[in-house]
Amino acid sequence: MPMIEVADLRKDYGSFRALDGVSFTLDRGEILGFLGPNGAGKTTTMKILTGFLYPTSGRATVAGHDVMENSVEVRRRIGYLPEHTPLYDDMTVSEYLHTCGRLRGMAGSRLAERKQAVIGLTALGAKARAPIHTLSKGYRQRVGLAQALLHEPEIIILDEPTVGLDPNQVVDVRAIMREVGRDRTVILCSHILSEVEAVCARVIIINDGRIVADGATADLARQHAGAPLYRVQVEGSLAALTAALQQLPGASQPVLAQAGGSNYCIEVSIAGAPVDAAAAIMAAVNSVGLRLVALEPRHATLEDVFRKLTRPTEHAA
Ligand SMILES: Nc1ncnc2c1ncn2[C@@H]1O[C@H](COP(=O)(O)OP(=O)(O)O)[C@@H](O)[C@H]1O
Ligand SMILES: [Mg+2]
Repeated sequence: MPMIEVADLRKDYGSFRALDGVSFTLDRGEILGFLGPNGAGKTTTMKILTGFLYPTSGRATVAGHDVMENSVEVRRRIGYLPEHTPLYDDMTVSEYLHTCGRLRGMAGSRLAERKQAVIGLTALGAKARAPIHTLSKGYRQRVGLAQALLHEPEIIILDEPTVGLDPNQVVDVRAIMREVGRDRTVILCSHILSEVEAVCARVIIINDGRIVADGATADLARQHAGAPLYRVQVEGSLAALTAALQQLPGASQPVLAQAGGSNYCIEVSIAGAPVDAAAAIMAAVNSVGLRLVALEPRHATLEDVFRKLTRPTEHAA
């Protein structure tokens, strides 16, 4: 039985359809990156999974329990770090975690042990007696993580956990996420590609309320790459180079990758990936009298895939 099963979820906010047929399954122990631009529907999906929001239609189960019919069982199994963590500013870290534990029905030595454990895991020991309002954003996020882990949930859902953190804090929080993911099922929602690539073995890309890609992080770039991209570097006029490349049959819109002095590097692909693509590009450059400095195929990255699948202009047509 999959740990999480989501089938044809739809969510309408009034007349606006935020989710439009979202389906996926997640097995125990998987670390999933739920990736999409702002407004794609990530938070909405997570709120449905955690029982905070009802879908308009469709079904979601967690460990076999329906999120609407059996939300108590579902919440017992999920630790949730929401996008905006509501923390009680006047409490100390220790008091806050105690309160969270009590709300989860924990008490006595079990609560004390679990508090100790999550404070250790999130390296909050030095701040345990500090009032929450005195903490930096990085420490507040750790408190949110500690809260999510308190009841030893099998599944952890983290919604944009590093937004607003400085680079050092990001590294710290990612290290905690990796540690947490060693023996749990994790969903990490993010619009930050490098974060998903660094932490997740599998990625789902969501855009406009629909899943547009789902697969192993390492395979996705290859699967969706399409024709290879060529980096063409020349010395001379950018306008001449752009015009020359646009003459090529099947050429994509050339994209400027780098510029320095009269040296320009452009990326272009040729539809259908003809075997003579490189020769055709070379000939086009020569035909306008530019000096070719370098020409090399560039392997597609997850960023290329993300941009290709989620760029608003691509959907306008
Ligand atoms: N309570 C709400 N009422 C109306 N529209 C909403 C509400 N919550 C979210 N939306 C809209 O639904 C879409 C998806 O939002 P959300 O799930 O928060 O996306 P993400 O987390 O991927 O940024 C967005 O267009 C957002 O503006
Ligand atoms: Mg969100």
